[in-house]
Amino acid sequence: MSRISKSLEDVLNYDEDGELKIDGIHVAQITESQQTPTVVLSERRLKDNFRSMKETFIREYGDVAIAYSVKTNSMRHLLGLLHSSGSKVDVASPTEARLAGMAGFRPQEMIYNSPGIANGDLVDSVKQGMFINVDSISEYKSLEKVARKLKRKVDFGVRVKFAPKELGSRLLYTEAGPFGLTKDEVRELCMEASKSEFVKLTGIHSHMIIQQINPTAHEMITRELVDFLEELHKSGIELRYVNVGGGFGSRCLIENAGFPIGEFSRRICGELKKLPYSPNLIVEPGRYIVSDAFFGLAKVLRKKQVAQKNLLFTDFGTNILMPLQTALFDVYPARLVEKSEAVDVRGPMPFHADRIKENVELYAEEGDTLVITNIGAYTLALSNNFCGQLRPPVVSIQDGKLKVVQRRETLKDILLRDL
Ligand SMILES: Cc1ncc(COP(=O)(O)O)c(C=O)c1O
Repeated sequence: MSRISKSLEDVLNYDEDGELKIDGIHVAQITESQQTPTVVLSERRLKDNFRSMKETFIREYGDVAIAYSVKTNSMRHLLGLLHSSGSKVDVASPTEARLAGMAGFRPQEMIYNSPGIANGDLVDSVKQGMFINVDSISEYKSLEKVARKLKRKVDFGVRVKFAPKELGSRLLYTEAGPFGLTKDEVRELCMEASKSEFVKLTGIHSHMIIQQINPTAHEMITRELVDFLEELHKSGIELRYVNVGGGFGSRCLIENAGFPIGEFSRRICGELKKLPYSPNLIVEPGRYIVSDAFFGLAKVLRKKQVAQKNLLFTDFGTNILMPLQTALFDVYPARLVEKSEAVDVRGPMPFHADRIKENVELYAEEGDTLVITNIGAYTLALSNNFCGQLRPPVVSIQDGKLKVVQRRETLKDILLRDL
């Protein structure tokens, strides 16, 4: 069995009888009131993840805004918790903006960035006062038209591609990638914007990487960004906001790798401090905030041996867990026993990619409960009903008490849209 990562031990640990607890509550107690599959949210871990990031960037740079990226996990309850923690948000659609609004965020606390924003949504976002990071020259032109028509002075930002060649495959997006503008396009946009009395470029944004467990890529990209800002500064352009995007690995994984978030902030801010002026800093994390605050409770439904492999088919499907992320999940039995064997943990679906984790050392019988870690990011938000799987409830642990914050999906929910 893989050891519980040191960074997560405070939230996930075994008692002296080998019974697993999440945030002080025995897993067995949770499954007494909620059948599996169930998702559990540790509110303490979530708030601590947010606080750890905010504090360390403040320490390094002074004031900083953390704008949680709603696409990572858009559950309303979660957004409410982040709002009361002092977060701002990055939204990618009118629906995300509405969800954030319902959780208490004002439009002025929202950053809108989408490569495919419709003109009508652009008008609404401007009217409401969201800050828009444009993703193309075409979007810039539409924004200028909207501002002109509304006779409003609109501040806006631009998403730029910074792709240091040395980073190679560590970049999710290269200069040929679909999102943002090249530096040349930004130079062109600056010329255009300087002629308009209705729009003003005040921000720059870049998001090129994901799941980084050490800070090298963030440091190199920020260096390129700073070089570009210096160039703009020489031609008289001083921006108010620098948004360095997200891309930080799950907190327990980066701490395990020996690079706590303070190391990322030190390297990023070290570069930013070389600027001849001090723009406001925005950080736009998703995964770091939510990934390890969520746990999946799964029941072993069937055990099977195939070609000397032990397969455990559980009720927790990859309709909730992105198959792509299997490398990130860890699986622990709710009760420790003396025995252990190598097992492949799967979901219940007749679907080749329904894999949770392969080659885990643990022992479980049919009917036993397993706990899956690191399931908060890009999972529930991307979930589906493949093979008729219903989405599980989400139970939050709040000051030592359990509270269902999202109920289990039913067949009726699925049928609701059929006319
Ligand atoms: C524009 C933008 N900002 C921030 C994020 C959050 O990224 P991460 O979860 O890697 O921190 C994303 C995720 O795709 C994004 O598209």
